[in-house]
Amino acid sequence: MSVANAISDTGYEAWLRYDRLPEQLAAVLTGWCRRIVMPDRDVLFGTVRRELTSALASLTGAEPEILDAPGAVADAADISGEGRALIAATAERAAALGLLEAAEAGALHAEGYVIRTVRRNGFEAVLIAGGTARGLLYGAFHFLRLAAIGSLDERALASLDITERPRNPLRMINHWDNMDGSIERGYAGKSIFYRNGRFIADKTRIRDYARMLASIGINALTINNVNVHETETKLITDEWLPDVAEVAGIFREYGIRLMLSINFAAPIQVGGLDTADPLDPGVRAWWRERAADIYRRIPDFGGFLVKADSEFRPGPFNYGRDHADGANMLAEALEPFGGIVIWRCFVYNCQQDWRDRKTDRAKAAYDIFVPLDGRFRDNVLLQIKNGPMDFQVREPVSPLFGGMSKTNQMLELQITQEYTGQQRHLCYLVPQWKEVLDFDTYACGEGTTVARIVNGSAFGRPIGGIAGVSNIGDDPNWTGHLLAQANLYGFGRLAWNPELTAEAITDEWVRLTFGGDPVTVDTISGMLLESWRIYENYTAPLGVGWMVNPGSHYGPNVDGYEYSKWGTYHFADFRGVGVDRTVKTGTGFTAQYHKPHCDIYESLELCPDELLLFFHHVPYTHRLHSGKTVIQHIYDTHFEGAEQARGLVERWKSLQDRIDPGRYRQVLERLEEQAAHAEEWRDVINAYFWRKSGIPDEHGRKIY
Ligand code: GCU
Repeated sequence: MSVANAISDTGYEAWLRYDRLPEQLAAVLTGWCRRIVMPDRDVLFGTVRRELTSALASLTGAEPEILDAPGAVADAADISGEGRALIAATAERAAALGLLEAAEAGALHAEGYVIRTVRRNGFEAVLIAGGTARGLLYGAFHFLRLAAIGSLDERALASLDITERPRNPLRMINHWDNMDGSIERGYAGKSIFYRNGRFIADKTRIRDYARMLASIGINALTINNVNVHETETKLITDEWLPDVAEVAGIFREYGIRLMLSINFAAPIQVGGLDTADPLDPGVRAWWRERAADIYRRIPDFGGFLVKADSEFRPGPFNYGRDHADGANMLAEALEPFGGIVIWRCFVYNCQQDWRDRKTDRAKAAYDIFVPLDGRFRDNVLLQIKNGPMDFQVREPVSPLFGGMSKTNQMLELQITQEYTGQQRHLCYLVPQWKEVLDFDTYACGEGTTVARIVNGSAFGRPIGGIAGVSNIGDDPNWTGHLLAQANLYGFGRLAWNPELTAEAITDEWVRLTFGGDPVTVDTISGMLLESWRIYENYTAPLGVGWMVNPGSHYGPNVDGYEYSKWGTYHFADFRGVGVDRTVKTGTGFTAQYHKPHCDIYESLELCPDELLLFFHHVPYTHRLHSGKTVIQHIYDTHFEGAEQARGLVERWKSLQDRIDPGRYRQVLERLEEQAAHAEEWRDVINAYFWRKSGIPDEHGRKIY
């Protein structure tokens, strides 16, 4: 990269920079990949070819030659002086060429791949063979990732042997973009899809985005907000379907299926019917006709995502029907075309009375959906947020995972940092997501983890997966905070394989984004991996959540939601704080978990410290397992958290000479803002609890 480019480096290339490799590595890679043999052709193969060619050219400085004639393998063996090439093909083709055993090719997952060094008659090649063209695409990105990280030296190339398959059938991004260009809970600029009520004419950025998503294995996305407003309700009509089809075409080139969020009341709002009752024959016919029309234009359309009866959105409850009635109606319309319905479980009463301490928002999803288990059609998935509340920095895992065994389930994570610092603060969420995926629900004995429930394997369900709410916008670096790119990267990698460790994912991302300098890698990895805990330290304590400004959800406001209708309370008074969700004396939420969790959460003695105030109301003098009182814990973590946030600035500054000025400066700005804002959080929270409790800090630090 030239000096001028380095100064203005925005981070747009994200983890697909393909910076020039050191000379020796570049020479070795060129030796193996000067010729790329690609016997197959169609759209996806074209993508693979483009990706391999441009990335290898960028990494090595030498543009590879493509051999795509039918006899290309033989040609490659002939032409290449050293008898080497890169062969990219379907497994079937590789088997036909004698490069893969037929049995192995047949057993390969459709989206899986083999990357292997093969030898035949004195001819050596790196073979990337995909179960299908899509598998090949993922294989190509995997190979390029290894190359970009610098791990493909002569030895590695001479002995490659990797077989991979995704663990989740659906690996999906949900956009909360509106057609006016705004993004609900978006913190990185405006939508890359829409502006002023229309689709954006220049689709370059959409294509670049599709590439990024494909490189981390994403295979589905919705492009409009789950809160479907008036204009967006028409996306499923002739008015906008040509535009939707054009965008679907771009994503198709990268193996990604497009879906739409729909408005349950669309039959009334755009269909001219007087009801949206899911059992009404006219309504059913209307949806069938819509589906047929969509599939005429977009044959591989994925299906619908639905937010119904939630936060003022219409739904089956309006007609005295239940959510199985609603979801099944849509599923029936999509079924002939292979489409699916993803039905969200974020359903609760948002008009609660704060005086009423029996109603518990945390219980709502389980109470509504568990009785419907077994009634959903096979092409319906229930999409469940990781926690029972709403993407707080700390929540228990939703007990709805583990509450159903006869329903396809999907995990919903929030990549966009709504409650976790809005991409002004560094909060790397991969460690949190790992905890969720590894959580053992004990739904059918030990080992019934969330990861196994959502990938379908725990109960032998046909489909499942993970969805993440997008954190990108039209900011030059996509995510506002450059380091928030790691959340998108990590989401994709975890959705591909939940067994990857947070450390491994982090290491990959840092190397791809900032190169392999050991000090840089160590420093940034450490910052990322500690950042969730740091953010938790200076915000709402011990799992109680909220304490943010209503509406924006940014910045401290301890009582912001305390007397509101949203069901999000902490019940702090002069004696204590926390929500009693026990069976014995509280809302009974703990009963929604299987043993041993119900017993652990129910018990004041056993409940983990970090979730104490989610499950119990305790005096400030209550002693945690850590040995500290609750009040002292609050003071200590807040002083410590603010200091740690300051420390992030110092750690980043130590890298000044190791990172290009463009990216260095933008991250520094955000970290400085975070450090100042963390002090605000510290002082507001500490002052609040000191004034409520009258108990001084043991260490006599300044509290206002
Ligand atoms: C949160 C968020 C809303 C969003 C909702 C949802 O409550 O603040 O903006 O619409 O989640 O997931 O539907």
